[in-house]
Amino acid sequence: MRRAIVASLAAAILLVATAPGWADPTAGKKTFEANKCQDCHYTNGPAKERTIADQLAKKGPELWYAGSKFQKAWLAKWLQDPKPIRPLKYNSLTDKNPGDHPKLAAGDADTVTEYLMTLTVKEVKAGVIKPRKNPKGRLIFMKKMPCSGCHQFPGTKFTGGMAGPSLVDAGERLNPDWIFAYLQNTKLFKPVRMMPIFEGLLSETDMKSVAQYVATFK
Ligand code: HEC
Ligand code: HEC
Repeated sequence: MRRAIVASLAAAILLVATAPGWADPTAGKKTFEANKCQDCHYTNGPAKERTIADQLAKKGPELWYAGSKFQKAWLAKWLQDPKPIRPLKYNSLTDKNPGDHPKLAAGDADTVTEYLMTLTVKEVKAGVIKPRKNPKGRLIFMKKMPCSGCHQFPGTKFTGGMAGPSLVDAGERLNPDWIFAYLQNTKLFKPVRMMPIFEGLLSETDMKSVAQYVATFK
């Protein structure tokens, strides 16, 4: 009897520990380090790059705000099956993205996701941006500001520019609140960047509109 209770208790604990959403961030950090992810990504903020040379020395994007930037479900999936995000190779303006990002096994991807989702920044306020087919946001993205000239976006007629990360699946990949925070406070995330600063060019309302619009991309 007692043994049966102990066994079912152990089974229950095991179930909880392995259920999605219950993976251990500490284990994820160990897996991250064991896979040498930190050779190309830094996970402690604030942003370290100060000059173009610093940016060019980086081998991959910074992950210190990954928990604020990404949607959890997308992250867990991408780490198992990474598809190119930037059309061009990291830090290159000419070479195609080779699509050779290291892959993680499903279990490892879950724990690493759990760890990366703990890396948040207070500047990203939750619940401000809801995805919305916002005509004003669309106008800004397509015409008023040159967003589409540098970013791929979903559609049939145009595919968009190659200079920036693809936004084709931004609504599944990015946290809508982060998109807004990024437009509003670009320098916090990217002190050295190739994307223009829209502070002063776009009002806060316009930034919200365009963030709502980008958050619908699927
Ligand atoms: C050899 C360098 C290198 C290693 C090692 C590496 N990455 Fe990356 N990582 C990159 C580059 C380059 C990109 C950009 C890929 C793209 O745009 O398609 C990237 C993109 C990412 C992204 C998306 C970030 C963003 O802002 O778009 C995540 C998340 C990520 N890597 C996690 C990991 C994890 C976890 C590991 C360890 C298993 C790892 N990486 C190992 C170079 C690396
Ligand atoms: C001159 C080219 C250019 C223009 C114009 C531009 N971007 Fe970008 N954007 C970039 C680049 C390059 C990055 C990658 C970060 C960096 O290097 O600054 C980026 C990053 C982003 C990201 C983060 C994507 C990610 O996965 O990390 C979003 C969201 C974004 N831009 C939205 C916009 C919006 C909305 C507009 C218009 C209001 C815009 N961009 C205009 C070049 C541009």
